Amino acid sequence: MKLLNISAIVMFCVACSSPQTEKIDSLSRAFDGKFTIGAAIDTSIVNGLRPQADSLVKKHFNSIVAENCMKCMYMHPAENQYFFDDADRFVDYGERNNMEIIGHCLVWHSQMAPWFCYDDKGELVEPEVLRQRIVDHVTTIVSRYKGRVKGWDVVNEVVVEGGELRDSPLSKIMGEEFIYTAFEAAHAADPDAQLYLNDYGMDNAGRRDSYVRIIRELKNRGLRIDAIGMQGHLGMEYPDVAEFEKSLEAYAAEGVKVMISELDMSALPYISRSANVGDTVAFMKKLNPYPEQLPDSVANIWNDRMATFFNIFDEHSADVQRVTAWGVDDGYSWKNDFPMKGRKEYPLLFDRNFQPKPFIRDIINRANEAKN
Ligand code: XIL
Repeated sequence: MKLLNISAIVMFCVACSSPQTEKIDSLSRAFDGKFTIGAAIDTSIVNGLRPQADSLVKKHFNSIVAENCMKCMYMHPAENQYFFDDADRFVDYGERNNMEIIGHCLVWHSQMAPWFCYDDKGELVEPEVLRQRIVDHVTTIVSRYKGRVKGWDVVNEVVVEGGELRDSPLSKIMGEEFIYTAFEAAHAADPDAQLYLNDYGMDNAGRRDSYVRIIRELKNRGLRIDAIGMQGHLGMEYPDVAEFEKSLEAYAAEGVKVMISELDMSALPYISRSANVGDTVAFMKKLNPYPEQLPDSVANIWNDRMATFFNIFDEHSADVQRVTAWGVDDGYSWKNDFPMKGRKEYPLLFDRNFQPKPFIRDIINRANEAKN
């Protein structure tokens, strides 16, 4: 009789901890079956220097993207010199933790190695030289991580507001051909890797139309294009939610997926220029209004707005494949130094004490209620 009781208790406990009844306690699990939840991580996390952020990544995220270490200036600092150590460790980290690994970014005018578009005399190279450099760069990097990186931001930020091709050394030399060269080389190097176009300000109608055109052009040329990365560097007053959603729908209508690839939301006043802390005190106060902590009144608006965006992602989950935050915790966001150095920002999903912002708790609670 005693024995029977014990086995009944054991069976009861097994049932309690079975996957069906286990409580959801993470953001990525709350969106299981809809989209993955990513974080941009840098070497500090990969190298174990920020254990609290590391724990959050392991608990809440099932996708990672390289915040910096795969960019041209770090990976390919001179024509015959590659540096793979940091990117290798980043990819190992993702594999060790069973995460989807995203490569960012193969061709970008910014954080590009200074030699890339120039000859020994400092002149722009001929189109054929640049074409070959792009092919070598893309082929070397994509082949190295073949079968390990799920998808690549192949080109980044190639269109400006209004829809024109961005004026950069790349476009000066090759027009928009550099885009197609990069996609072709990436696909040849890893035919199974997903390939993405990535940009910010995607609510802009001109950009929207331009990317629709580029998607069609890629397809016309028989090139692979899997998704558009809508970066999603948001603010309290921009973008217009309906315009953002319109772009998401326009891309989905072209038959590609959408990634929200660099999500954060500035809680501070918008500034369009780079400025320095050395400017006047009054100026600083106005632009850096919460040097201690974010007042509840502002935090609540931030939280509601972020919840609104997550609702949109959820509603469009048939088309949205991934939502990636550009960082983990507020204390370590690039927004603390951009577009102005030294502001105290509050843009990410977790605060400076590594606590989830309230909307995350709501999402997780709702996911648990929906299960019951
Ligand atoms: C940013 C990184 O977060 C910073 O650490 C770095 O100093 C500059 O670049 N769009 C992009 C990202 O595609 O690569 C940028 O990342 C942010 C804007």
